[in-house]
Amino acid sequence: LVLILDYGSQYTHLITRRIRSLSVFSLCISGTASLSAITALNPSVVILSGGPHSVHTPDSPSFPDGFLAWAQSNNVSVLGICYGLQLLVQRLGGEVHVGHKQEYGRMEIVVEKPSALYSSDQIGKRQVVWMSHGDEAVTLPSDFHVVARSDQGAIAAIENPSSKFYGLQYHPEVTHTPEGMETLRHFLFDVCRVEAGWKMEDVMEEEIKAIRDTVGGDEHVICALSGGVDSTVAATLVHKAIGDRLHCVFVDNGLLRYKERERVMETFEKDLRLPVVCVDASNQFLTKLKGVTDPEIKRKIIGKEFICIFDAFAQELEEKLGKKPSFLVQGTLYPDVIESCPPPGSGRTHSHTIKSHHNVGGLPKDMKLKLIEPLKLLFKDEVRQLGRILDVPEGFLKRHPFPGPGLAVRVLGDVTEGNALDILRQVDEIFIQSIKDAGLYDSIWQAFAVFLPVRSVGVQGDQRTHSHVVALRAVTSQDGMTADWYYFEHKFLDDVARKICNGVRGVNRVVQDITSKPPSTIEWE
Ligand code: XMP
Repeated sequence: LVLILDYGSQYTHLITRRIRSLSVFSLCISGTASLSAITALNPSVVILSGGPHSVHTPDSPSFPDGFLAWAQSNNVSVLGICYGLQLLVQRLGGEVHVGHKQEYGRMEIVVEKPSALYSSDQIGKRQVVWMSHGDEAVTLPSDFHVVARSDQGAIAAIENPSSKFYGLQYHPEVTHTPEGMETLRHFLFDVCRVEAGWKMEDVMEEEIKAIRDTVGGDEHVICALSGGVDSTVAATLVHKAIGDRLHCVFVDNGLLRYKERERVMETFEKDLRLPVVCVDASNQFLTKLKGVTDPEIKRKIIGKEFICIFDAFAQELEEKLGKKPSFLVQGTLYPDVIESCPPPGSGRTHSHTIKSHHNVGGLPKDMKLKLIEPLKLLFKDEVRQLGRILDVPEGFLKRHPFPGPGLAVRVLGDVTEGNALDILRQVDEIFIQSIKDAGLYDSIWQAFAVFLPVRSVGVQGDQRTHSHVVALRAVTSQDGMTADWYYFEHKFLDDVARKICNGVRGVNRVVQDITSKPPSTIEWE
């Protein structure tokens, strides 16, 4: 295990991912974790991440006392990156000063002498690296020496090979450091002698065993399927572990996309053979939403209604089985786990503050179900990889995200007004199908149509019309936190607009949303 101690750098997750991409398992925990929490994980390498702090600020985060002594006596290599290097230097008795010049962005460094950190062919060569720091190490602790310097003469890499302590002032994990992956590879395999061998097949086997151990021989487990990748992969994995003691529910809330219910149920039943009940609760949801125009109230109503249905599902199951289900499966991912407890001062906040997001995970607190979260150590692309091994169809794994409140946040205003939902479904289907036909689906994070509760004047077939306006939204994004609008070719947009106006009764105008996030959000409500 390669353990990353997180001091709040925006790149910390990237270090974890880069190392996993080398088939080495890595985990990231708070940089202020206790010594026992660190040693319990039994890492062979510890990486101290970068961070926005200065080691001179009172209360700046640091590793626990005794950590370096423990590392040294257990032959554990320690690599400090940026702030991590400065921490290492300061805690070992060296000096860190506020730099004369702040070094940010692309920079050149030269590897000055043979070292454990770089392969021998790097010596004397220039490397482009990505720096972002204000402070710099000026006096090194005893037994350390400088291995590489920046053009300005600042220390770029240091080492004390006899103690196995190393430091890089720049970020090897970002793509702006072209040789960075090679440096990490060399460090892990040639210096630390870490063995590559972490495979998704092993993750699957370990998780299946863990699920069986947790659930035991006769307990029952429930799961709410949203139709998204995470809950589907989580349920498929649990099903493989305990078979039909898993009970899934998929709720049609009347706010699904065109043929969504049929499409996802076919995947669940035919391709994955999941034990799933489909509850048609569309009337129930739409009745509660009638006349409601406030986006937050809509979201709250939908969340609450979902809980009622899930409660009823659990109740029915209890009557059928003669005992209560004891566990609940959730498709929580690693970024959710990390981001729910960001280190102090990291500037990272939990993402759900702008809108009251909900997904099928927001379940009643009084149900007293124990959680099974088999994906909680995986990133999204790793979940897709696991899904592939579990034979989840490729097309399903690549689906764009869809919000828990569904089309309710894409019909502005009252969702029950006229045939807004029907119009939106048709428009959305034409847009998405055109994107797929043009081979653009996988280059776009998310694309959808929005129904606007305004009418405009048009002329169709020599007749004056007074019909609805729809908006098209397509964005690129890494994680949904920020997004940029997607640049379609004019010909593509022209074709889509024609298809929509010719094919969907009640629409005579199509506009495109050309705002990024921020200042907008991806969804309109
Ligand atoms: P926003 O609109 O906040 O959306 O920029 C960011 C991402 O989150 C999705 N989204 C949701 N997902 N429950 C979900 O599971 C929700 O309530 C919800 N609201 C927005 C949105 O589709 C985008 O991918």
